[in-house]
Amino acid sequence: MSIRTSLFSLATLAAIAAGASATAQDLPAPVMARQGQMQAMAINVGIVGNMARGNTEYDAEMAQAAANNLLALSQIDQRFHWPEGTDNFALEGTAALPAIWENPDGFAERYMTFGTAAQGLADVAGNGLDAMRAAVGPLGGSCGGCHDDFRQSN
Ligand code: HEC
Repeated sequence: MSIRTSLFSLATLAAIAAGASATAQDLPAPVMARQGQMQAMAINVGIVGNMARGNTEYDAEMAQAAANNLLALSQIDQRFHWPEGTDNFALEGTAALPAIWENPDGFAERYMTFGTAAQGLADVAGNGLDAMRAAVGPLGGSCGGCHDDFRQSN
């Protein structure tokens, strides 16, 4: 592919991406970023969760890959994702409760609990179904714990 062609493709791709985001809900970028991170977490929790429940067969390599992704996701610094004025009273399309800004230490602690659980899972996910399953419980609990306090339930 010539340089000219690849530049053209990049411009086309950028235009498509811009068009796509304009038709998506008009949410501020930080809100889309944090919701996208949560979606990525959910996909990876789904992989290990389904293995833990016996819905899918345990596969050490897949379990480890999902656990590694969760660990990496848990290491994303959250400071740019939750600007003031993006709670669910200020904006349509977010479930972020004002409690996040009223109790930032509590929110940070919940995020750290998730990080600890993700590390725990990453340490053992490839070591067999039983070892993995024991670490999936605390991980799921860390999602629910934060949602209970800081996400609007519907
Ligand atoms: C530190 C707190 C916290 C932790 C830990 C956490 N969440 Fe969330 N989650 C939230 C908040 C707050 C929202 C609402 C965000 C918004 O709508 O702006 C949310 C939203 C979501 C959403 C909806 C995203 C969307 O597209 O609107 C999913 C799915 C989700 N979380 C999954 C998970 C999973 C799976 C885990 C655990 C691996 C997890 N969350 C851990 C706080 C947390």
